[in-house]
Amino acid sequence: MAPHSVDENALPEQPKPPTAKKPNPFALPPREQPLPRSTLQIQDRFIDEPERLRVAVIGAGLTGIEAGVLLPAKVPNIDLVIYEKNADVGGTWFENIYPGVRCDIPAHVYQSSYEPNTQWTEEFAQGPEIRAYWQRIAEKYGVYDHIKFGHRVDEISWNEDTSEWTVEAHDLKNASTHSAKFDFVVTAIGRFNAWRLPDYPGISEFKGLLRHTSNWDPTFDPSGKRIAVIGNGASGIQLVANIQPRVASLDHYARNKTWVAKSFAGDETDIKPKTIPQELRDSFSDPDVYLKYRKTIEGKYWRGFQNNFKGSQGLDNTTKELIDVAKERTASKPGLVEKLIPDFPPHCRRLTPGPGYFEAITSDNVNYIQDRIKRFTQTGIETEDGTHREVDAIFCATGANVDMVPPFNIRAFGQNLPDLWREGGAHGFPYSYLGIATPGFPNLLFLLGPNGAGKSGSVPHAVEVNVTVVAKILRKVSREGIKAIAPSAQAADDFVQYADAFFNQTVLSEDCSSWYNSGKAGSRIHGLWPGSGAHMSVVHRDPRWEDWVYEYKTPENRFAWYFGKGYTAQEVDPESDMTEYLSKPGPVDLRALYEQWWRIH
Ligand SMILES: Cc1cc2nc3c(=O)[nH]c(=O)nc-3n(C[C@H](O)[C@H](O)[C@H](O)COP(=O)(O)OP(=O)(O)OC[C@H]3O[C@@H](n4cnc5c(N)ncnc54)[C@H](O)[C@@H]3O)c2cc1C
Ligand SMILES: NC(=O)c1ccc[n+]([C@@H]2O[C@H](COP(=O)([O-])OP(=O)(O)OC[C@H]3O[C@@H](n4cnc5c(N)ncnc54)[C@H](OP(=O)(O)O)[C@@H]3O)[C@@H](O)[C@H]2O)c1
Repeated sequence: MAPHSVDENALPEQPKPPTAKKPNPFALPPREQPLPRSTLQIQDRFIDEPERLRVAVIGAGLTGIEAGVLLPAKVPNIDLVIYEKNADVGGTWFENIYPGVRCDIPAHVYQSSYEPNTQWTEEFAQGPEIRAYWQRIAEKYGVYDHIKFGHRVDEISWNEDTSEWTVEAHDLKNASTHSAKFDFVVTAIGRFNAWRLPDYPGISEFKGLLRHTSNWDPTFDPSGKRIAVIGNGASGIQLVANIQPRVASLDHYARNKTWVAKSFAGDETDIKPKTIPQELRDSFSDPDVYLKYRKTIEGKYWRGFQNNFKGSQGLDNTTKELIDVAKERTASKPGLVEKLIPDFPPHCRRLTPGPGYFEAITSDNVNYIQDRIKRFTQTGIETEDGTHREVDAIFCATGANVDMVPPFNIRAFGQNLPDLWREGGAHGFPYSYLGIATPGFPNLLFLLGPNGAGKSGSVPHAVEVNVTVVAKILRKVSREGIKAIAPSAQAADDFVQYADAFFNQTVLSEDCSSWYNSGKAGSRIHGLWPGSGAHMSVVHRDPRWEDWVYEYKTPENRFAWYFGKGYTAQEVDPESDMTEYLSKPGPVDLRALYEQWWRIH
């Protein structure tokens, strides 16, 4: 064939389809005629006089206390009421008084950032010392003045005409119903507060003492008694280790295997109190010494997040280390270690430091029972293999309702949030935007809610970050003439899809049940922020206002109420300092210049 001859069998050249034009996100809306001159009524108000906001917080555990301290400091003109069903503050640390209850995070880490206690007596504080610490904070910062104790919130409902929440609380002392209206409701109800007993047949027939660990009977002395402990989560592990030396016998029902750690971040725990020497405590009167000490301990809790990723070297190392520890410390009971090492990787559920636990379960007075429980009887527990074991008391360390569905009705626009979130509901899991709010429920915010804290850092730090972003939202609303605000469904969908994809890379999505996944192996992770603790802090620092839907007080013009009459109250006050932005000649941190929300400039 000649070089440029035409192949007669070749198909005629197809016309190229026109390249699809990329939509222009900046397209101007068509305008028929020039914008007419405004007839807007200028409002007689100063821009720097924010609207009074009535805010209800539900719960006065450490999260509610942090809200009670930080919201009044960060949100001008707030009217704050905190509803708490208990008789005092503290939540977890008020309710859990079982023997051995203590924090598995060092005391100098598990505390607020702004009110450190330099005088913790033990490296890992016991429950009463933690409770006293948070009570002191509540007292010092006037949080008690905001709290309605003995008030259990049973329902909240949104009035779309007035943009208000009605909170219905049961006054437990007077057996009456208390009802009040708020602009915002903020939940701080905890993740483990709705504790639950198991529902085995015959449970009500048991004649001995039956208690959940979160509902401990302080008058009961287990010494010399025959005891059953159901559950090998952190509470069960702690209780077993602490009561084993003084009970006659202990039947420990541990239906599944779990990983028991020596410590988090290398700070080794011990069944005996690890007292902080007086000399060291005295040295903390020097603020520089204390800050250095604190930073060294706390810094470690921000590291190691990468160990949660599938196939990571850190995960491998942890696995080997935990197996070695279990083998070494259960060596006196051959065969036991096989019953302890789980099939799922460490970090799939929260690791449990168990000082004294291996030593307890290898003791002669402990029965480690993996057979499933069939029923309770009047005198004890029968397992599925037909064995009946008599006991004087049964302690259920069976955890809480961890589906994170609020235990009260939250009604708005004909929907009830618990119904949407519950398994089988329209969402079927706690559907949130960044863990702080949910579409369709305006002016409702969550503290330490679903996805509310990262797996690194500390709970108090995560709570302070959560409260701060809530404060930013409240400030925006009260300053800018916003009646109602809720995240958009698109933003929440994107967040959930990111979270699913993120957790898929980690061992949290492996086959284990935990409070990260509603106690259902393999189901969606909603118990943690999808990223590290530091990652969450970055995201919350600058709220993405474009992800929210707004209803304005002045729908005709978003600036009408906000801008007011065009000048500030501060400048007409002859006593005010209008030049706060000026400082003595010298270095200025330019990053902070004009970034302080409480200043005009
Ligand atoms: C036994 C135990 C030990 C723990 N140990 C550790 C640990 O070592 N390290 C760690 O990081 N975390 C630990 N945790 C997790 C612990 O719960 C959190 O660290 C933290 O205390 C949560 O505080 P919170 O205020 O968010 O919740 P909570 O302490 O649970 O407080 C919630 C409050 O809300 C109130 N409330 C709930 N519903 C209503 C309602 N309808 N009306 C009115 N009030 C209501 C409750 O009464 C309670 O006071 C532990 C949890 C438990 C159960
Ligand atoms: N400072 C501490 O050391 C400490 C102490 C307590 C709690 N915590 C924190 O609080 C969280 C909750 O801990 P938790 O121990 O109270 O609860 P948890 O971790 O949810 O453990 C509950 C335990 O009960 C078992 N269980 C539940 N229902 C059962 C049933 N019907 N029959 C038999 N066993 C049953 C579970 O077994 P399966 O695994 O088989 O479901 C699990 O072993 C922890 O994750 C931890 O963060 C920390």
